[in-house]
Amino acid sequence: MNNLKMNTHAPIGIVGLGLMGSSIATALILYGQKVVGLSPVNSKIDSEAPDRIKKSLAECKREGLTKKGSDELMEKIHFTAEYKDLGECWLVMECVVEDLITKREVYSKIEDNVADTVIITSNTSAIPISILQNNLRLKNRFFGMHWAEPAYTSRFLEIICGEKSPVETGEQLHSIAKEWGKEPTLVRKDIRGFITNRIMYAMYREAMHLVENGYATIEDVDRACKNDGGHWMTFCGLFRYMDLTGLKAYHAVMKDLFPELSNKTTVPKLIDDIAKKGGNGISNGVGFYNYSKEEAQKWERTFERFSFDINKVSLKYSEKTSKI
Ligand SMILES: NC(=O)c1ccc[n+]([C@@H]2O[C@H](COP(=O)([O-])OP(=O)(O)OC[C@H]3O[C@@H](n4cnc5c(N)ncnc54)[C@H](O)[C@@H]3O)[C@@H](O)[C@H]2O)c1
Repeated sequence: MNNLKMNTHAPIGIVGLGLMGSSIATALILYGQKVVGLSPVNSKIDSEAPDRIKKSLAECKREGLTKKGSDELMEKIHFTAEYKDLGECWLVMECVVEDLITKREVYSKIEDNVADTVIITSNTSAIPISILQNNLRLKNRFFGMHWAEPAYTSRFLEIICGEKSPVETGEQLHSIAKEWGKEPTLVRKDIRGFITNRIMYAMYREAMHLVENGYATIEDVDRACKNDGGHWMTFCGLFRYMDLTGLKAYHAVMKDLFPELSNKTTVPKLIDDIAKKGGNGISNGVGFYNYSKEEAQKWERTFERFSFDINKVSLKYSEKTSKI
């Protein structure tokens, strides 16, 4: 592969301007990168992307993440529905629905329209990169780039190598991601769920086990997570936390507790029942909690506000700026 470097003159393509695609576009524009935003299908969520991105950029200015106004920043993005407009890009990020067949169709269209030197990445939450890269014409150009929502306030970014992705190129992408204000991680060997989703899904399974079996309510599980993990996770990771609080105790607890944790391999009834009746959480008001339209909007606004606040705290304790 070519020696990669952040190229603000050539754009980055984003295919799929849904929730994550718009959020990633905002993050890249904020750090001076030109973007081609491609709507692969004619959907409501894509048609609302320009407004969503402009609003997020204005919010970033209010919060001091940029000095530039949203009108000026919006000049960095070109919206299109044509794959041929990806022709000038040096990197293309796929950000469409979590469906293998759809993603593969999208890769084929991207490869037909970009040079052989262009890197293609996927924002997949959990499909192994080796499976996604299998059908590409040039398999070694493909990596996972897993962002977190909101991409412009979170410093999370996982770069994942598939079986056929050169680790050296992964390392270059890792360096470039630092220029986007991220504290990236590199997964050198592909594994389903990568780092955080493996850890988070182990937590989701245990949370549902506790509720389904009557040990605690949904509200109490949420409350406990907010005030235990939520208190220290922005400061340090799991291993540092065990060091900080004395690892001998963890060693002792693991022996007795691990055999009792849930190891169910089926989707829990708690979420299955909601999904089967069409529940999607905040977006349609039906989830683990129910929301009126006003309540849903209030949760979304408050989450956005919190994301800016936590960004400031995490920046104070980041690897780059921490005094430790
Ligand atoms: N939502 C999150 O917090 C989050 C976090 C990390 C990763 N992801 C991953 O990012 C990806 C996108 O998720 P999202 O939350 O932005 O979804 P979304 O539903 O908001 O957007 C989906 C996008 O896919 C496009 N699309 C739908 N059908 C299509 C088709 N047949 N062909 C081509 N494109 C089609 C839509 O036009 C839209 O642009 C998924 O792989 C998801 O797992 C999501």
